[in-house]
Amino acid sequence: MPTLTVMEASEAIRKIRSSVNKENSELTSSKAWQALEVHYAELRDVTMRNLFENDAQRFERFSIEFEDILFDYSKNRFTEYTRDLMVKLAKELNLQDKIAAMFDGQKVNWTENRAVLHTALRNRSDREVHVNGEDVMPLVHTELEHMREFTEQVRMGGWKGHTGERITDVVSIGIGGSDLGARMVCEALQPYQIAEMNFHFLSNVDGSQIAGILKKVKPETTLFVVVSKTFTTLETMTNARTARDWLLNYLNDEEAVAKHFVAVSTNESGVVEFGIAKENIFRFWNWVGGRYSLWSTVGLPIALAIGMDNFEELLDGAHAMDEHFRKSSLDQNIPFIMAVLGIWYVNFFMAPNHAVLPYDQNLDSIVEYLQQLDMESNGKAIKKNEDPVDHATGPVVWGRAGTNGQHAFYQLLHQGTAMIPCDFIAPIESSNPVGEHHHILLANFLAQSEALMKGRTREETRQILEMQELQQADIVKLLPHMTFNGNRPSNTILLKRVTPRSLGSLLAMYEHKVMVQGMIWDINSYDQWGVELGKTLAKTILRELKSTSTVFKHDSSTNGLMNYIKQSKE
Ligand code: F6P
Repeated sequence: MPTLTVMEASEAIRKIRSSVNKENSELTSSKAWQALEVHYAELRDVTMRNLFENDAQRFERFSIEFEDILFDYSKNRFTEYTRDLMVKLAKELNLQDKIAAMFDGQKVNWTENRAVLHTALRNRSDREVHVNGEDVMPLVHTELEHMREFTEQVRMGGWKGHTGERITDVVSIGIGGSDLGARMVCEALQPYQIAEMNFHFLSNVDGSQIAGILKKVKPETTLFVVVSKTFTTLETMTNARTARDWLLNYLNDEEAVAKHFVAVSTNESGVVEFGIAKENIFRFWNWVGGRYSLWSTVGLPIALAIGMDNFEELLDGAHAMDEHFRKSSLDQNIPFIMAVLGIWYVNFFMAPNHAVLPYDQNLDSIVEYLQQLDMESNGKAIKKNEDPVDHATGPVVWGRAGTNGQHAFYQLLHQGTAMIPCDFIAPIESSNPVGEHHHILLANFLAQSEALMKGRTREETRQILEMQELQQADIVKLLPHMTFNGNRPSNTILLKRVTPRSLGSLLAMYEHKVMVQGMIWDINSYDQWGVELGKTLAKTILRELKSTSTVFKHDSSTNGLMNYIKQSKE
């Protein structure tokens, strides 16, 4: 067997992939794609060091300002010609028409035959948005009003619990898109949070999480917000039922549920059946996907935490980004540029990872949020015409807040065999200015992307080692280990501060990035059949786990594991 280097193997896979189904793929047979293949071969050995050395204006040329956000993409293996080809690709694929179709309420979620209109939830203009001929904006405004009325009562202490006490704790019960967005925004905007109330997020069906939360709250002063689009999700319903039992166990009166439980759902009958009063239902619609839903009533915990005015600022920020995305030319369009950079690395450099590195502790959860947004949206392999794709799609998204990540996995970013494009995100002003802390944080933030881009040549390394007056033999030994190839790409996203508005814009920016990639790859970014399969199987297995009989219907591993668990319990 011949042994291939990682680079040779990647190249071989690239060739195989681009030769499969070629005649079927509008994307890989497009003129712009073919030109990108040629361009890739020319650019792959060019270093960013060189690109910077040869162009004193590279930062200005490859950065875009939007309100309080600066998007710098100069530290990428990307030239004006790459950008031109990507714009040509978008034109060849009629990308602008696809974007317009989404904003206009056409059923772009073709497997579920639904419109995708999270942008209508934050449409702050007087533009009508139609679904099946009906303008949905009045529905959106009614629910926003409902949220305002309710959240003001709770925050001011006007909403009393069953025993007449004010609400001090809110427990949001949901999972996935019905949890991550609200949790992340509440953390990110922690300085805007009302001091008189505490917020808890319950998502895992693991009893340890609910047990931990219930230890911290009192039934008389706790409000549960059950968030579930379908109101059938096993984890959420199990947690909600346990919370209700706990409440009734203390308060001993069914009527208490109305004062301590509200629901956010599209499934009104399911909510009523659970025992929550009709007037305590906050509605949204099937044209809002779970992972795109924080802008809807799913954001109720956010509005309770930061107030409705701030929640509307979040919507304003997202709407401003929607307008930038809809109206800017593609070469100045932040979500478009982010999307095509991703495609450049996934499909040409064969780099299937993407790291998100927020230098702000309050933004730590944005990693998880973007993980769901990206991986649940673009973890697909079938095109609109039902053929399999002939190219890679969504990357693995992961990361962690800096500087903790630096002391955990950055070694691999700098010197591992894989090239992992990164997004560095930081606010210029801290939400909690303490002494020198933020300067140190920002210095690390800037140092990392510079190091990844520049690396350190053998010669530079030798000079450093020589200054340390080491023996020549030791220098020779250390040189290869301490030399960094660099040429590892990253985007830098600077926010003046993390405010409701700038956060809204940042999140909308990523949503559109993911959507553009889905459109170019010709996959449906709005369904999640893979997750549905797991949900269905879990229901069957749950029944079998609870029964006393031996299980034999699955593969030998699943049967064996189940029977082992049952025996251990006996
Ligand atoms: O993870 C799969 C998923 O369907 C997500 O898309 C959704 O956000 C989550 O489950 C929760 O679903 P629901 O809001 O219906 O409880």
